[in-house]
Amino acid sequence: MKILIIGGKGTIGKRVSDHFAGKHDIIIAGRDSGDVTVDIADSKSIAAMFESIGNVDAAVCIAGEAKWAAFDAMTEEDFYIGLRSKLMGQVNLVRIGQNFVNAGGSFTLTTGILADHPVELTTSAAMVNGAIHSFVKAVCLELKNGIRVNVVSSGLVEDAVEKYEAYFPGHNAIPMNKVINGYVKSVEGKETGEIIRMYDNC
Ligand SMILES: NC(=O)c1ccc[n+]([C@@H]2O[C@H](COP(=O)([O-])OP(=O)(O)OC[C@H]3O[C@@H](n4cnc5c(N)ncnc54)[C@H](OP(=O)(O)O)[C@@H]3O)[C@@H](O)[C@H]2O)c1
Repeated sequence: MKILIIGGKGTIGKRVSDHFAGKHDIIIAGRDSGDVTVDIADSKSIAAMFESIGNVDAAVCIAGEAKWAAFDAMTEEDFYIGLRSKLMGQVNLVRIGQNFVNAGGSFTLTTGILADHPVELTTSAAMVNGAIHSFVKAVCLELKNGIRVNVVSSGLVEDAVEKYEAYFPGHNAIPMNKVINGYVKSVEGKETGEIIRMYDNC
């Protein structure tokens, strides 16, 4: 398979890319890293990326940002960071990418545990994750040519514990091989419209 991995040089993306590279053709995208540049917050940039790489069998997004801050300090503009990047970035990836994914191919998006179990400072990130879950459940009903779409929602991953554990008291870190398997299930399996949750019900 020819697999596009946006964010494929990131903490999670690197592990997922390394795994898929063993048996598939990988194209890594990022704003400043990878084989091709893209800013998912800019729909023109997504279109230009697809024009340059052509059709793929799977498009995986492991990128997207949202502002973390106390709710009483969040401005309207702060919320738009997550809406433009993590939410509309991934919606636009599917909207534009549906014309560049081969029949029977797939999209795999990324959210996280905050959709179900938010922690302090995450009104924006949690909201955006929940919106993506609803988007995936709806858009799978309309994609044509057997194209599938799923979202991987992981808890705090092992490789990011040092950076984020203070924000997630009592959470169990998710082993990287379990996180990778969420992406494998979406790309190589037959599921569509699934929220692939990689965490215990904490
Ligand atoms: N870390 C965790 O424990 C965890 C758990 C659950 C969910 N998540 C979610 O998983 C995703 C990846 O997390 P991570 O920890 O791997 O992040 P990360 O280490 O910061 O990596 C993010 C990657 O995405 C690329 N990227 C960021 N913004 C982009 C944009 N607007 N357009 C294109 N590429 C962009 C970055 O490359 P460039 O800098 O070159 O653009 C980088 O390669 C995030 O959405 C995060 O919320 C993370």
